[in-house]
Amino acid sequence: MIAYILREERVGGYWMSRREGRATELDARQYAALCHVHDSRWDDGARARTVEAARRDPMVADLVSRAALDTTEGWAAVRHVPAEVPPELLPADAAAAPKRIYFEITRRCNLRCHSCFNGSGLPMHDELSMAEIFDVNRQAYELGVFEIRYTGGECTTVPEFPAIVADARAKGIYVSIGTNGVYSDEQLDALPDWGVDWFIISLDGARESNDAVRGKGTYDAVMRTLARLAAIENRRVRLNMVVARHNVAAVEAVAAVCERHRVDSLNLIPLRPYGRSLARLRNDMFQQSDFYDFIREVNRLRKAFPKVTFSTTIDLLDPEEKTSHDLIVQKKTTCAAGVEACVVGPKGHVYGCSYSPASFPGSMDREGHEIFVAGNLRDDELRTIWRDSSRWAVFRDLSRYKNSKCHSCGHYQVRCSGSCQIMSWHRLKHESNEVAGPEGIAEFFDPYCFVDLLEEEESTADLGAPCGGAGMDGF
Ligand SMILES: C[S@@+](CC[C@H](N)C(=O)[O-])C[C@H]1O[C@@H](n2cnc3c(N)ncnc32)[C@H](O)[C@@H]1O
Ligand code: SF4
Ligand code: SF4
Repeated sequence: MIAYILREERVGGYWMSRREGRATELDARQYAALCHVHDSRWDDGARARTVEAARRDPMVADLVSRAALDTTEGWAAVRHVPAEVPPELLPADAAAAPKRIYFEITRRCNLRCHSCFNGSGLPMHDELSMAEIFDVNRQAYELGVFEIRYTGGECTTVPEFPAIVADARAKGIYVSIGTNGVYSDEQLDALPDWGVDWFIISLDGARESNDAVRGKGTYDAVMRTLARLAAIENRRVRLNMVVARHNVAAVEAVAAVCERHRVDSLNLIPLRPYGRSLARLRNDMFQQSDFYDFIREVNRLRKAFPKVTFSTTIDLLDPEEKTSHDLIVQKKTTCAAGVEACVVGPKGHVYGCSYSPASFPGSMDREGHEIFVAGNLRDDELRTIWRDSSRWAVFRDLSRYKNSKCHSCGHYQVRCSGSCQIMSWHRLKHESNEVAGPEGIAEFFDPYCFVDLLEEEESTADLGAPCGGAGMDGF
C-alpha cells in the first residue's frame, strides 16, 4: 500500500504523506538526500550511509523516522515520481503536476440548491464514461497527483462511486469528496467501507437557513451523516458553508455543529455569483463592508470555538503571515487555480477553477471559455495540458492578469493571494460597456477585497487564531 509520494519538482520536490494528508516542500538538497536513500534502499550498508547523511537536515531526519526510511520495508510504502524530463522543461510558474484535482464526475445531483454555482441537477449530455473516469485516475497516478477530490454534482449518486474511490486509493492517491452528505440508509451503512480519507460536507446554516437554500430535510440528513462519521476512525471531516447576507448570522450555529460532531474544520465560502445563485441569491452577495464585518465575526468565533479551524478566502485579519492553511496546497504566489490544482469537468475539460465560465461548456461566453479552459482529456493527456503554461496564462502570468493594486499591496503573497481573475472577468463582462477582452482582466477588481476598509480602520491587532488564503478552496 502506497503511503507516501516523493515527487520531483523543477527545483527540489515534495513529500506527500497520505496518512497525514499533508504535502511537505523539499528544497533541492533535501530532495537529493531522499533520492540517495531511495536509490540505496536495497543495500543495508549503503542505505545506512545515505540515511546518516540525510539526517543532517532536521526536517529530513524527521521524515526518515516518521516513515521508517532507514529500513527497506519503510521504502516499500513510498512511491518515487521523477519528472521524467529535464527540470528546465517543467513549468517555471506552476507545480510539476497538480497537487490536487477537483474531479467533477457528474453534474447529476439529488438536490437543487438555490446557490449552486454550476447549476447541478441532471447529468450533462455526454459525460465521461466509467472507462474515461478510471483513465483520469490513471493519468493522475502517473503524474504523481497527491489528492483527487471527487465532486460534482453529487459524486455519491454515481453507482460506481465506491469502485472509483477504491481504484484511486489503490494507486496511493489521497481521496477527498465534496458532498452534500444527504445519503440513503444503504449509503450510511456503507460509509466506513468507502475508503474516503476526507469528507467535505456542505451545510449552509442552522436548520431553517440551511433548508431554505439546500432543500427541506437536508439539515437533518447532514446531522445523521455527521453522527455516523463521528464513529469512524481515521477520517477527516470539514464543513463547507457558503455565506452571504441571508445566512451570515448562522455561522455560529454551524461552528457549534462542528464542535458537537468532532468536525475539524469549517470552510466559509463567500457566495460567488454564478449558476443558479445568479437568479436566486444575487442580492444576498456581500458588499465589501459586509465582507469585512463577516471576517470580524469569524475572528470572534475563532476565540469562542478554539477546537475548530476556521478557513476562508481573503483574510487580512489573520495574525499569521500565511496565504494558506491547507495542508496540501500552499498558494504562495497566488490562489491554487491552474498553479497547484485544477478541475476536470464532467465532459473532460481541464480548467483552473469551477467558478469560471469553464464550468459551462455549452454557454454563450465563448471568449470566457477560451480564456479559462486549458484543454480536454478527450484530446490530450493531462501531462501535456498541465505542463504547457501558454494554456494557463490567465492563472500563471500574474504580472499581466492580477490587478495592479495587488502588486503594490503589502498583503500580497503574505496574507492574500491577490484579486480573483474570475471575479474580475465577471465584472468586465457584465459592467464594461466596451467589448470584453482578456487584457481588461487586470483592470477590474475583486469585490471581496477589503484592504481599503482596513486602512480606514488602521487596525489588525485585535485578532485571534489563524486562517487565511484566497481563491479556490471551496468546492
Ligand atoms: C457545487 S458543490 C458540489 C459538491 C456537493 N454536491 C455539495 O453540495 O457539497 C461544491 C461546493 O460549492 C458550494 N457552492 C455552491 N454554490 C456556490 C456559490 N454560488 N458560491 C460559492 N460556493 C458555492 C457548495 O455549497 C459546495 O460546498
Ligand atoms: S451545491 Fe451541491 S448539492 Fe447543491 S445542487 Fe449543487 S451540486 Fe447539488
Ligand atoms: S489589494 Fe486586496 S486582493 Fe490585492 S493583494 Fe491586497 S488585499 Fe489582496
